[in-house]
Amino acid sequence: MKRMLTAGCVGLVLAWASVSGLATESAAAAATAEGALAGLQETTSTVLDGVFTAAQARRGRRVYTQNCESCHGPELKGGEMAPSIAGSDFIVFWTELPVGTLFERIRVSMPEDGPGRLTDEEYTDVVAYLLDANDYPAGETELPADKTALDMILIVAAE
Ligand code: HEC
Repeated sequence: MKRMLTAGCVGLVLAWASVSGLATESAAAAATAEGALAGLQETTSTVLDGVFTAAQARRGRRVYTQNCESCHGPELKGGEMAPSIAGSDFIVFWTELPVGTLFERIRVSMPEDGPGRLTDEEYTDVVAYLLDANDYPAGETELPADKTALDMILIVAAE
C-alpha cells in the first residue's frame, strides 16, 4: 500500500512537470520522478506470487546438483566449503532485494570454481530452484532469463 501511494505521488509530480512550462525545472523534476519510478518498478510482484514453474525448479535442481551441491550441500545448508543458502540464512540476506540481484550475484560469482560458466537460462533455473527449496510457491509462468525483468520481482520473507 505504501508503495502504491508513492507511485501516485510520482504520477502527480510528472503531471505537474508537464503542465508547468518551465523548461529546465520541469525537466529536472521529470528526471527525478523517472528515477523514482525506475526504483519503484522493482516492486511490481514478489516471490509469493508464483513467479517460477515447478518444471523450471526441477531443471534448476539438476543444475544445482551438478554445479553447486559439492560446496553448498544437498540441502543447501552449506558446510566447510560454502555458506548456507537455505531457510533463515537465505531470508535474512536476501529479503527486500530484487530477484535480479540474486541472479546477478550468482551469475558473476558462482559456481565459485568457475563463475559465469553456465548459461543465463541455467542461472535462472537455479534461482527458481533456490526459491522452490526456500518454500516459495510455484506458479504458471517461468522466471525470465532477463535481469531487468527479474529486478521487478522482490524477495520477501516466506509466509
Ligand atoms: C567451489 C565451491 C562453490 C560452488 C561450486 C558454488 N558455491 Fe556458492 N558460494 C561458495 C562460497 C565459498 C561462498 C561465500 C563466498 C562468497 O560469497 O563468494 C558462496 C556464496 C554463495 C551465495 C551467497 C550466499 C549468501 O546468501 O550470502 C549464493 C547465493 C551462492 N553461493 C549460490 C551458488 C549457486 C547457485 C551455485 C551453483 C551454480 C554455487 N553457489 C556454487 C562456494 C561455492
